[in-house]
Amino acid sequence: MEAEYHIPVLLNKVIEIFKSTEFRNPVFFDGTLGGGSYTEAILSEIPDSTVIAVDKDINAISFSKNRLKKFGSRVKFFNSSFAEIRSLVKQAGFDSLSGIVLDLGLSSYQLEAEDGFSFMKDTPIDMRADKRKELTAEKVLNENSPEDLEEMFLKYGEIYNPAEFVRNIISARRNKPISTTNDLLKIIESSFNIKGRARIKLIAKIFQALRIFINNEIEDLQNLLNTSLDILNHGGIIIVVSYHSLEDRSVKNFFKDNSREQKKSKYSRGEANPKPVLQLLTKKPVIPVEQEIRHNPRSRSAKLRAAMRI
Ligand SMILES: C[S@@+](CC[C@H](N)C(=O)[O-])C[C@H]1O[C@@H](n2cnc3c(N)ncnc32)[C@H](O)[C@@H]1O
Repeated sequence: MEAEYHIPVLLNKVIEIFKSTEFRNPVFFDGTLGGGSYTEAILSEIPDSTVIAVDKDINAISFSKNRLKKFGSRVKFFNSSFAEIRSLVKQAGFDSLSGIVLDLGLSSYQLEAEDGFSFMKDTPIDMRADKRKELTAEKVLNENSPEDLEEMFLKYGEIYNPAEFVRNIISARRNKPISTTNDLLKIIESSFNIKGRARIKLIAKIFQALRIFINNEIEDLQNLLNTSLDILNHGGIIIVVSYHSLEDRSVKNFFKDNSREQKKSKYSRGEANPKPVLQLLTKKPVIPVEQEIRHNPRSRSAKLRAAMRI
């Protein structure tokens, strides 16, 4: 495994926000451990803190266990989905949390070294962050019905005209199973007539749709958000860094619906939430400054939102 597993995004902002909590022996939940940079910074900068460090991907757990050895029992590792937050907090020996952080999406390691995530190289089209799960992108592409495939590309890739593309998937798989990223790329090329940046964007959206579906990303996020309200101490903070509009929309709506913000609909001028349980700490999402984007281009689509349990 290479030395640089992942360059952390908006790390200083995450720590600055968490430092504003004033708990004794605070317990944090890092639901997307990755290369361990957030967890390391929390443990280093927040005295007497403990971190429950979770990742679906066993490679992230192995890498970070080694990196964070010096913190001993201040960090509790779990190879699991963050959607299991309630039972993980219990297993770690706690009842509630001072802070939760999610840094969604993929690590650089996953993009570069694990199968199927990147369309920049030809690998088996797997896309599982958790290799214990059965469902792979290969299985979905070769076995799902045309209707299910269309729904997936529409819902998770926002591809509004997937019919011909899906027909081409069905006819390709009749000849030979779709088993590599290049197999999928060829079908994309034959289905859409676009070039340049628009082509790259479209391919990225198709890969994104498959990845979200295979890894249950939106449901996991929604589960964690719902449970966070029960499990955060009053004054506890939740921070989510997201990388595409579906994730960001879920977070934004959840924070809004549970805060004092006016709930507006198309038909009304809005009404105050009668029982707010969150206070927004970021009215607008925080995004990386130019210098960070220059240093780490993968940070360019990041949006950080934070809220406090009241
Ligand atoms: C962008 S990386 C996190 C990087 C990390 N903040 C760091 O500084 O190194 C995202 C990580 O979250 C993990 N992940 C994504 N969804 C998850 C979920 N539902 N449960 C647990 N881990 C998840 C991925 O496997 C990946 O390792």
